[in-house]
Amino acid sequence: MDLSLDSFYELHNLNLEATVATVTQTPNVKKPWGGVFREATDPRVEKFTESISFDQRLAIYDIQGSQAHTQMLATIGILTGEERDQITTGLGEIGAEIASGQFDFRQEFEDVHMNIEQALIARIGDVGRKLHTGRSRNDQVSTDLRLWIRDEIDRIIALIKDLQRAFVGRGKQDQGVILPGYTHLQRAQPVLAIHYWLAYCEKLQRDQGRLLDCRRRVNQLPLGTAALAGTTIAVDRQMVADLLGFDGLLANSLDSSGARDFVIEFASCLALIAEHLSGLAEEWILWSTSEFDFLKLPQAFCTGSSIMPQKINPDVLELVRGKTGRVVGNLTSLLVLVKGLPLAYNRDLQEDKSPVFDSADTVAACLELLAPLVADAELNRAVIANRLEDGYLDATTLMEYLISQGVPQRTAHEIIGQLVASALDLGVPLRQLPIEHFTAAHPTLSGSAHEILGVQAAVDAFRSYGSTNPAEVEKQWNQWQKKLSED
Ligand code: ARG
Repeated sequence: MDLSLDSFYELHNLNLEATVATVTQTPNVKKPWGGVFREATDPRVEKFTESISFDQRLAIYDIQGSQAHTQMLATIGILTGEERDQITTGLGEIGAEIASGQFDFRQEFEDVHMNIEQALIARIGDVGRKLHTGRSRNDQVSTDLRLWIRDEIDRIIALIKDLQRAFVGRGKQDQGVILPGYTHLQRAQPVLAIHYWLAYCEKLQRDQGRLLDCRRRVNQLPLGTAALAGTTIAVDRQMVADLLGFDGLLANSLDSSGARDFVIEFASCLALIAEHLSGLAEEWILWSTSEFDFLKLPQAFCTGSSIMPQKINPDVLELVRGKTGRVVGNLTSLLVLVKGLPLAYNRDLQEDKSPVFDSADTVAACLELLAPLVADAELNRAVIANRLEDGYLDATTLMEYLISQGVPQRTAHEIIGQLVASALDLGVPLRQLPIEHFTAAHPTLSGSAHEILGVQAAVDAFRSYGSTNPAEVEKQWNQWQKKLSED
């Protein structure tokens, strides 16, 4: 073997040439981080690691973030005024191209951040290479996602209000309607229809409250964290926060680099909304069956059967109920995704987007459809009124009357229970039970029982704050009308 220096160089050069050739022969575009690499990315890796197919949804937020960053870089003297303007204009043009669907998103640039940065460089030249100063894609993606969630929260709150308006708007047409209230899905006590509608409004109000609370934690700026430890560039994070409308700065770069609790919190707010909507869907599906026949759903929100010509199916409500599964599944995916992740950014985190996008879209679509469905459904007043006397809805009222006359609750419960048993034996409502039964049950019932019985009397007898007492419900209904017209 020839060990001379010349032959060593010969060998070395040959190898070097071979390496370069592999790089230049590859069909892949040279990566922006390519300096250290001697090998091109395997095309299968490119396909596996890309996120542009889904994170392009963040493009406008990425551009907003970059424009704020640019302005800040100029203020601290990294960019000249002219460079700032070139970058800002370039980014704006790219934004317009994306908005009009003309932009060519490319898999080889992996994600939304690099697609936009590469397009900028292609457009304005080397000045564009200054944009990524003092930041990393790690703080960039977290910023984009926070901006997106912030907007989604506002969008979903507006949709929640629309649904609340639909419920409150039913107040006039359903005034005075009494429905059976159920526990264990067994008839329990009479309840005003409007009390039902306002119950949904209350749940939705808490959902809004949770979103607003989540928004406070979402609206904190991570940009300036750079990769994980911060940056030696004297960035003015407060300025960027002000420009982007963030309420404050995340205080620890190691934390903010990989924190995704804000995504999970949002997904969990959405999961609770979906849970609430699925309960409503289930209730209304039941009420629209021939067996209940309380509710006629608008036909525009039902679909038919391909084989049974008579069918008018509540598919929208069934899908609202069904889609809850994926919204809860998305939350579970996110929780499992971050489990056991060490501090700062890990690529696992790229998997946070599809579930959270899907949850937001799904819940928004459900809310959007439910508002008109709720507004246009009709209560079958006659059917409901006909069947209200079934199920001893007034038994508890009579028991409470006895309590008000000094009978201990447990004794009163026993006495009324026996009266219901007698009524069941005779197959009549309490009101039609012969007077001797009441007199025998308790002396105070001899004269007064019949005035207390019946669903209307039972509803009127309620007293407590938050009950279905008509005056109480009307007061609340007025407050809801006022509140929703102010919003
Ligand atoms: N596409 C990435 C994500 O969504 C962006 C951040 C990538 N950062 C990195 N160092 N590879 O998480």
